[in-house]
Amino acid sequence: MKFFRSVLITGGAGFIGSNFVHYLLKNYPECKITVLDALTYAGNLENLSSVLDDSRVTFIKGSICDPPLVSKAIKGSEAVFNFAAETHVDRSIEEAGSFIQTDVFGTYTLLRQALESGVERFIQISTDEVYGSASDRAFREDSPLKPGNPYSASKCGGDLMSLAFRNTYQAPVVITRSSNNFGPYQHVEKFIPLFITNTIEGKDLPLYGDGMHQRDWIYVDDNCSAIAMVALKGELGAVYNIGAGESRPNLLVAERILDLLGAPKTRIVFIEDRKGHDRVYAMDAKRIRKLGWKPEWDFDRALEQTVKWYCNNREWWESVKSGAFREYYEKHYSKKLKEGKSRGA
Ligand code: NAD
Ligand code: DAU
Repeated sequence: MKFFRSVLITGGAGFIGSNFVHYLLKNYPECKITVLDALTYAGNLENLSSVLDDSRVTFIKGSICDPPLVSKAIKGSEAVFNFAAETHVDRSIEEAGSFIQTDVFGTYTLLRQALESGVERFIQISTDEVYGSASDRAFREDSPLKPGNPYSASKCGGDLMSLAFRNTYQAPVVITRSSNNFGPYQHVEKFIPLFITNTIEGKDLPLYGDGMHQRDWIYVDDNCSAIAMVALKGELGAVYNIGAGESRPNLLVAERILDLLGAPKTRIVFIEDRKGHDRVYAMDAKRIRKLGWKPEWDFDRALEQTVKWYCNNREWWESVKSGAFREYYEKHYSKKLKEGKSRGA
């Protein structure tokens, strides 16, 4: 199927955004890409280093909250993919202002400029977290929004603004809500990269609460193919859940990482739980399956691949883990790790 000739990817220097840039260049080689990214602590130009000299890619440093800059960046684009966001739940619990600013106001700014420039599609990248914690049933796209933390509340704001723009101005909006991604270039503050790199460094693994919180994991490449499909075939104004049906308790994931790296289970330390920690995320992803999408990766194979990537790209994550991240890690984890209980102790 023919793809858009030119697209704007916001947040394209982050984890999923950069994977999406690589995915498009490989699968839709005719497509021209403009990346707009503020390069916050989570953005990393190294994620795009292999393509920055490619004539199909233009990089612009700046914020989606800046209307004149967005207006310039969006020119000529047929579709907008909005990956830009503040994304880490723990950070949102400490401070939510930047989340509201980017995830709500930034999305609004982008929607306005997209309307003005007349793009064909506006793909709002959202999350399963907007539904809150699941109890006995998987969430469908029409399930009520029940965000459980400031990050997910901000993402709800962005989603609702996008849908309001569809209803009020017929903006060509579609929304994807995916489950937890993992894979190359994911920031080390997130669970899987933190646990892989801590294991490699011989450090303890800080597991929240009883470790029985469940996430439904999807390999990032599968999310990229789903997003591309929604952009091409999704119904305007619709929401698409994206999940691979690979739900597991965090404890099992931590143990699998230790196994893959040949480290003992005693490296797991149960620490004070995250405030407001959603217990289970579970989504019904039948709607996107009906478009013809299915995941290519099963969890075990994708985790092995991811562990290999972090083993082979030590320089990348060592540089991310130095500097400001070290301070964040000390502040967030040191006391909790001291007071925590080791597995097997
Ligand atoms: P990330 O934190 O790795 O990257 C976010 C990127 O956005 C960074 O490059 C950052 O510099 C950029 N950014 C932040 N504020 C900006 C601003 N004001 N203007 C321009 N750029 C800005 O995030 P990610 O994990 O790649 O997530 C990407 C998107 O996918 C987010 O919208 C997130 O809510 C959503 N999502 C993520 C997951 C997941 O498991 N990682 C799952 C579902 C949905
Ligand atoms: O569900 C999609 C969401 O997944 C995205 O919208 C978010 O942007 C993304 O950050 C992610 O949110 P989570 O809170 O689920 O991801 P995180 O990697 O922070 O944590 C995954 C699980 O692991 C969660 O139950 C908390 C737990 N955890 C996490 C960290 C960082 C720990 O036990 N210890 C840790 O140190």
